[in-house]
Amino acid sequence: MSGDFPRHPLATKEGWSTFVSGASLPEPPRLLAAADLDRLDPDERELYDCARQDYHGELTLVATPDILKITRAGQRLITSNRGKQLGRKGLIVSGASGTGKSTSITQLGKIHQVDVERRAPGGDGRIPVVYIIVPPDATPKMIAIEIAAFLGLPYSSHENPHFLTHSVAGVLRKVGCSLVLVDEVHRLDLRTRKGAAASDELKYFFDSVSATFVYAGLDLAENGMFTGTRGRQIAGRFITLHTSAFGYATEAEKNNWRMLVATLESGLRLHRHKPGTLVSDAAYLHERTSGMIGSLDQLIHDAANEAIDDGTEKITREHLKAITLDTAAEEQYRPPPPRKPATAGRRAGP
Ligand SMILES: Nc1ncnc2c1ncn2[C@@H]1O[C@H](COP(=O)(O)OP(=O)(O)OP(=O)(O)O)[C@@H](O)[C@H]1O
Ligand SMILES: [Mg+2]
Repeated sequence: MSGDFPRHPLATKEGWSTFVSGASLPEPPRLLAAADLDRLDPDERELYDCARQDYHGELTLVATPDILKITRAGQRLITSNRGKQLGRKGLIVSGASGTGKSTSITQLGKIHQVDVERRAPGGDGRIPVVYIIVPPDATPKMIAIEIAAFLGLPYSSHENPHFLTHSVAGVLRKVGCSLVLVDEVHRLDLRTRKGAAASDELKYFFDSVSATFVYAGLDLAENGMFTGTRGRQIAGRFITLHTSAFGYATEAEKNNWRMLVATLESGLRLHRHKPGTLVSDAAYLHERTSGMIGSLDQLIHDAANEAIDDGTEKITREHLKAITLDTAAEEQYRPPPPRKPATAGRRAGP
């Protein structure tokens, strides 16, 4: 069962390697034939159901328009930056919470690392991709420490900040790092002294390590990422791509949404679920989730697990209605008023 052993966090080289190799993903459980299902004793049945529920809890990655746009642009940048000491460009991914920023940049990282390993197999000690999360209220030293922690370098918090910065940059060059992913970058508030200094620290790594830098964060223009002298420098060095919720107004948007629902539906491990049921309910699913992929993922998979628990083995509207989603999705959803029965309002005869 996937939940039974601790996983290394993604922002460590061990956790990252597991993510890239796909070893963290369980095999999709095979659906048993009805006769075999009936033969399971209660313990076996529990294990079988648990395996399916765990599988529903794993990410089914969908090639959404945003993820395709970001991974393609990122790969193009990596190619054009390759070998350049000066004039390299970075990529910024900006968008609201839950729109897939972290998913997109980590997929870009995975694609890049697989590509590097395919081109030059057996590169022991090589670390092509580094993924860090900016800590709250970050100082320059904390940025260097996050990179050191990813790389597994020994460091002490009493270390001289300049020494630490230079050592970390030196190791990044030595291990052949060619892509640095920095998540939650909105935590660097350029309007504060600490935030500006931490952003300068990243700029130092940008200049001194010949890698492509990708930042992801919440609504970065609104959060002051491109204002002031430093902000203008970032604006001149990075291309910006946006992630957003799925729309449901035009035919093209409806098609994209239906394709997303269909992909998630096709991954379900339920015995009596008729494929296409959820696609035909696409408008309701959009209303419930306001087009947020993370909310949709939760809605479908929680409902599927409920259908396993109650033995119905198919997702019904009642299952979907019973799921409580994230606060943002719940706040925006207005269920239609209950329909009056056909006879309502009719006077009873004398
Ligand atoms: N391409 C995708 N395919 C399938 N599911 C996805 C995809 N992108 C995002 N999701 C789902 O949406 C959830 C939120 O995505 P993610 O964590 O990448 O958002 P985020 O923009 O980084 O949010 P935050 O700003 O809160 O960090 C994921 O946990 C996953 O369930
Ligand atoms: Mg994120």
